[in-house]
Amino acid sequence: MFLQGQHVLSVEQFDLSQIHALFETAKKLEAVAQGKVTTKLLNGAILANLFFEASTRTRMSFHSAFARLGGDICDTTGFSFSSISKGESLSDTARVISAYADVIVMRHPEQGAVADFAQYAEVPVINGGDGPGEHPTQALLDLYTISSEFEKLGKKIEGSVIAMTGDLKHGRTVHSLSKLLSLYDNLTFHFVSPDALAMPASIIEKIQAAGHQVKIFTSAEKGIQQADVIYCTRIQQERLSDDNSIDDLFSINKALLEPNAKSDAIIMHPLPRDTREGAFDLTTDFDDDSRLKIFTQAANGIPVRMALFVHCLGLENEVGKDFQPSLWAKTKR
Ligand code: CP
Repeated sequence: MFLQGQHVLSVEQFDLSQIHALFETAKKLEAVAQGKVTTKLLNGAILANLFFEASTRTRMSFHSAFARLGGDICDTTGFSFSSISKGESLSDTARVISAYADVIVMRHPEQGAVADFAQYAEVPVINGGDGPGEHPTQALLDLYTISSEFEKLGKKIEGSVIAMTGDLKHGRTVHSLSKLLSLYDNLTFHFVSPDALAMPASIIEKIQAAGHQVKIFTSAEKGIQQADVIYCTRIQQERLSDDNSIDDLFSINKALLEPNAKSDAIIMHPLPRDTREGAFDLTTDFDDDSRLKIFTQAANGIPVRMALFVHCLGLENEVGKDFQPSLWAKTKR
């Protein structure tokens, strides 16, 4: 019951035993996530889903996770449809919504805003991303994906090489994931980015203090060699000033991956990826390769977010007791 009534604001609040307990619950909930069985575990509970920054995956997968668990959802998207646009403070908003919901998920463009909000909330608040700060639930689903895929490959996280590419300066997913992976032993991190988008020194220091090796690359070719995980990210144009022209940008594409990626590497991306012409991101020409796990990764958001709700509401010992086979079959075309 380590998470009952608690907020989920940062990956730094978790230890490995808690993460493994969350993942055990997520595994049990996979059949619910896939629509194979139903549950009414959260019957009568309400989630408030507050997204003040663009989102597809995080907003919809939290919604889907709560609904699959039998709960109801109320939501607001963007500042213009919330009374924050009329000058209402985050603290008043938190106090009001605490009376409407049993759990709150919030995404906000400013680093630290979700933690500020949570101080005034009377129910658990889950950080759905706070500007360039953290994205703890993305990091948990990323780790769940690495752990599940490594298990299939007979590999261990301990001793592995993790390459992260792209906008490591502004990418909150790589900030959260590298801190979470640091809980394991003896990792080597390859941080692959243009100098202007390098991983912040504060995060590198934390990783090194935990006993891991960090290697910095500006060449994608060298940076992805030897990697067990190649975690690509988008250049976060929305966080760059207009006059910020960046040299040495690169794409991660088939021509780069085929000769340089290990045969048992997994290729990840938190998505969205920028597929527009001229964008520097993971391209689509590698989509048929079985090493690409980006859609499995996105799907894993449902059981992991279900597990977070279950633990925040102290229901982990109730999971599975009312499972019923679904009356419908999810038809995949
Ligand atoms: N990975 C992720 O956070 O995606 P969204 O921005 O679509 O929620």
